[in-house]
Amino acid sequence: MITPDTIGKILDATRVEEVVGEFVKLKKRGINLIGLCPFHNEKTPSFHVSPVKGIYKCFGCGKAGSAVSFLMEHEQYSYPDALRYLARKYQVEIEEEKPSEEQQIAIDEKEALFNLTAFAQKYFEDTLYQSEEGKAIAMLYLKERGFSLETIKKFGLGYSPGQWDNFARYAAKNGYKKELLIKSGLVKESDHQIYDTFRSRIIFPVHSVSGRVLGFGARLLISDKNKPKYLNSPENDIYHKSKILYGIFHSRTAIAKLDNCLLVEGYTDVISMHQAGIENVIASSGTSLTADQIRLIRRYTSNITLLFDGDPAGIKAAFRGVDMILSEGLNVRLVLFPDGEDPDSYARKYRPVEVQQFIAENSVDFISFKTKLLLNEAQNDPIKKASLIKEIAQTIALVADPITRSLYTRKCSEMLQIEESLLIDETNRIRRKKVLPAEFEQSPIDVAPEYIPEPQHPTASKNVTNGFHEKEVIRMLLQYGDRMLELDALDDLGKPIIVSVRLADFVVEDLSSDQLTFDNEVCQKIHQIFQYNIQNAEVPALRVFTDHPDALVRQITMSLIETPYQLSENWQAKHHIYVKPESENIKESLLQILYAFKLKRIDRMIADNQIKLSNAVDESELTGFLKLDMELKSKRKTFADALNRIIP
Ligand code: UTP
Ligand code: MN
Repeated sequence: MITPDTIGKILDATRVEEVVGEFVKLKKRGINLIGLCPFHNEKTPSFHVSPVKGIYKCFGCGKAGSAVSFLMEHEQYSYPDALRYLARKYQVEIEEEKPSEEQQIAIDEKEALFNLTAFAQKYFEDTLYQSEEGKAIAMLYLKERGFSLETIKKFGLGYSPGQWDNFARYAAKNGYKKELLIKSGLVKESDHQIYDTFRSRIIFPVHSVSGRVLGFGARLLISDKNKPKYLNSPENDIYHKSKILYGIFHSRTAIAKLDNCLLVEGYTDVISMHQAGIENVIASSGTSLTADQIRLIRRYTSNITLLFDGDPAGIKAAFRGVDMILSEGLNVRLVLFPDGEDPDSYARKYRPVEVQQFIAENSVDFISFKTKLLLNEAQNDPIKKASLIKEIAQTIALVADPITRSLYTRKCSEMLQIEESLLIDETNRIRRKKVLPAEFEQSPIDVAPEYIPEPQHPTASKNVTNGFHEKEVIRMLLQYGDRMLELDALDDLGKPIIVSVRLADFVVEDLSSDQLTFDNEVCQKIHQIFQYNIQNAEVPALRVFTDHPDALVRQITMSLIETPYQLSENWQAKHHIYVKPESENIKESLLQILYAFKLKRIDRMIADNQIKLSNAVDESELTGFLKLDMELKSKRKTFADALNRIIP
């Protein structure tokens, strides 16, 4: 755990243009630098880097962020790894926070397991290359399957020999304790005898995103009806089946680069595809994806293509689990292989270009595929067709993005030859009933450890939405936090004077005197960072937010500081209307935003109080609520008057 202090030092030393400049050729253009965007293909540069703001933005594909997010996006670093990279680059010494005793024990136990799996992986690999059994039988098998030596090395494949306890003895000799061996699942115990779990099997190491070995898949060399074809490591502190994607380490860069993830069923499919030059492939290990796995994929792309057998079982398998993928916001396409072929066998039969061509030519979007298939089944049966419309609507309703959803309702209604409005109505009905509440409760994902206190959840009702005004207040803080405002005030003698106050101090103080917080947790968090820093008389730099560990903070910050006023300035020019730009009119803009925010808030408090008022049970309660009602209304009038003075 890197200390907040170190994070600050690293971010202070970081120059976005230098970091991006290592990967993208940049040319100076005014105060900014430009280059060809590394996130999409282009011939004329639309990728801008602003040293002053510490951010980059591509006006072609919209990708934007800070030095840290560049490393995360372009190099697939985790947040702490990106910081470590920068610390090395700028020679900042990293101070790590000492974990607690409990944390330390957990870390030590995990480390011991990691250490053992790495040791085991080496043992299996050595056995494949060096033992007689490995060389003569296992290697022959792999070669016969068409795996090249390069491929075998790349994926770290190995072999577990046929004897009972070869590995157990070797590991014990190297100092590994029995308890740890058993916990890893590599060794089992019965009648006080320990023996190897994997015997006479090809070993497929399963890697984490960063390339550490988490566990193993082990395939029988000679098929035997009485034994399972594959054995896998059991659940333990480092091997969590529901979070693992086979191939993610070797494929993540290609997945991000091609903005698409091919999903296959098995270990051998991933490996054969890689050998055919198709490197954006991962395997679900024969089951449907879990929410955790889908979120892992979403770190790299929002497009997933399922590669399946063309037989009825394969098609069924394709249907299973897709709802979950759609509702996690990914776009799903589908490629069906000819009956009896899987990606592995296809890649062995055809040349790499042919495999690539096959995938490109046969990928169809999942919803249209499903519609066509069900339509074929329904033929001209009107009853079946009615239930088919419902079923398609169920699937479309899962798509979170409204634009994508409307593309689907249009396309599917054409295929079904029905009025589009019919499908839209049905979809909306389903969304209102099921999907919306779930989306509402969806917890934020990918939230890294915080170094700021947790926001308190506001208790007031949220029936009056305030999102726009909240974000506007935050935007002012982010964009103009350190600007000075000239404000009217009264001195000790009651004489009117003008004082100079920093915007951030003014906003934080003003909100806290009215005891106002934000509904939106991210806004609240940003506000708290300001509060926290202002106690130390500092306005936090924009970097603190563009490089914050919480992805949502980074996202909102980027969306707010991307000059939304350019558009309206163009609009003004076109209509020959000129208003002073906001940056020259900060005080008025701020007060306007602040009062609008407060008005909204107070309206909500009044509404809440009204409900209490109408439910009051006795005289004294009633008087209390009435008094509050009057106070709130008079406060409301002050705000409204103030607002009217600003916008006459
Ligand atoms: P397959 O039976 O399709 O295996 O199972 P495969 O990967 O194509 O292997 P080959 O080509 O026969 O050698 C697909 C995946 O399901 C999981 C494995 O992850 C496998 O790769 N599986 C299958 C198991 O975990 N256990 C089993 O007994 C079978
Ligand atoms: Mn296979």
